[in-house]
Amino acid sequence: MENSALSVLLGWIHLIATVAWIGGMFTNFFIYMPAMGKALDPPAAGKLMGAVMKRFRVMVYVSIAVFLVTGILMGSMHLGTGDPFSDKDQWIIFMILKVSVFVVMVILAIVAFEVLAPRVARIAAGGPSPQLARAQKSQKSLALIGFLMGLLILAITAAL
Ligand code: HEM
Repeated sequence: MENSALSVLLGWIHLIATVAWIGGMFTNFFIYMPAMGKALDPPAAGKLMGAVMKRFRVMVYVSIAVFLVTGILMGSMHLGTGDPFSDKDQWIIFMILKVSVFVVMVILAIVAFEVLAPRVARIAAGGPSPQLARAQKSQKSLALIGFLMGLLILAITAAL
């Protein structure tokens, strides 16, 4: 495949992963979480959130793999172009920043999916309790932090 066609294909796939992950976080945080809190009692909201997180988990893990593969290929193509007008050092610094935020986001996602979501689902099965309220609050805070980091990655990418 010609290099420019390959870079369009990689950019397209990279953007699909962006929409799936960051878009999913937008929807979770601004639509599902507040709507569930209004329409359902805490145990039912916990159960539904558990089911939502199970599906979202697969999508996020696939997106992470897609980011790694397409991002590394796009990065090596960018560095291989030797464009005299682009500032390589600055690009590399932004890229290091971007990948560092990405690593933190991956860790947060693993905590959200493997620790918090199963805990909320387990406590929710036992009915309402202060413990459930606390776990749901942590789930919301983590969702907000993840969402803000997603915005930060987009800002760094815009500066690349
Ligand atoms: C291992 C992690 C990642 C690597 C190595 C990576 C690498 C790259 C590279 C090299 C570019 C092209 C920039 C240029 O040519 O100047 C790019 C573009 C982009 N990245 Fe990433 N990225 C990663 C993760 C992410 C994540 C997590 C997001 C979403 C929040 C994201 C969103 C974007 C967007 C929106 C673009 C611009 C679209 C495009 O050029 O096609 N990237 N990325």
